[in-house]
Amino acid sequence: VKRIAVLTSGGDAPGMNAVIRAVVRKGIHHGFEVFGVQRGYEGVIQGDFHLMTDHSVGGIIQHGGTVLKTARSEAFKTEEGFAAALQQLKAHYIDYLVVIGGDGSMAGAAKLTEAGIATIVVPGTIDNDMAGTEYTIGFDTALNTVLEAVNKIRDTAASHERVAIVEVMGRSAGHIALMAGLACGAEAILLPEEPLDIGTVCERLIKSHSRGKLYSIILVAEGVAKGFDIAGEISAKTKFETHVTVLGYIQRGGNPTATDNIIASRMGAAAVDNILQDNVNQLIAWQQGQIVALPYDAAVKTKHGIDLSIYELAGILAR
Ligand code: F6P
Repeated sequence: VKRIAVLTSGGDAPGMNAVIRAVVRKGIHHGFEVFGVQRGYEGVIQGDFHLMTDHSVGGIIQHGGTVLKTARSEAFKTEEGFAAALQQLKAHYIDYLVVIGGDGSMAGAAKLTEAGIATIVVPGTIDNDMAGTEYTIGFDTALNTVLEAVNKIRDTAASHERVAIVEVMGRSAGHIALMAGLACGAEAILLPEEPLDIGTVCERLIKSHSRGKLYSIILVAEGVAKGFDIAGEISAKTKFETHVTVLGYIQRGGNPTATDNIIASRMGAAAVDNILQDNVNQLIAWQQGQIVALPYDAAVKTKHGIDLSIYELAGILAR
């Protein structure tokens, strides 16, 4: 019987559990033994492999986080740690390793591939910043969480006539800020990809204030600036009252949306389908509405930047 191991690595993201469930149940359906690895690459190094059953992934699809736990393993980046991981995969007779995670996790899988281990990566991160794929599992849930939070913040900002600055996650990318900004009708969106001069933002605020708009929502991607620094600059330049909310881990957890669980279930199943065809060392990716598989070296060359037309649209609509 061939063996698949599955792990989650890097930041947790809603929908990861649905991927684990799909890999386990589809794997078992096709006659594989499926092992769960605890704490990502850290667990590989420690030999933390556990045989999974249909039952062991019951009741998890609706939860955020990852039942396998996750880690950003520093040990795996060392020569000794990597060698230990290889040794453990061989000692447990693992034929295929499915890695659920972001860019860093894919780099780890690609390194294992070079060392002769067959791997498949399923994209999971709230940031949607992965090369090779237009979608990463967890993004939709995070967007909806930001939208819900901003809707609440807006009530208070409007009641008190304040400039509400909301700092959102995204690592060095602005996907969350941009799409949530469009969805919630933010007056300004600050992104690392398209630096907006704070003087311009203040002019815009003053202009809309003079037209009778007495409160505003500004979304700041963590990759461009700290919300508190932006607030300081805005209140110094405009004298408007500001308030900062750093959404933080609120936007990383929570029950996955239908979109995330559907894509997660399909991508987890696609990982097993590719294994069945021995089409390994591939990223399961979302391209133009389709689930495809592409080799890691092709994936890393396909950068996933922000869509500038959406940024322009958000600017036009924010009046
Ligand atoms: O990748 C997900 C993410 O939440 C990023 O948006 C953020 O920059 C980073 O992880 C924070 O990482 P940590 O797990 O160390 O808090």
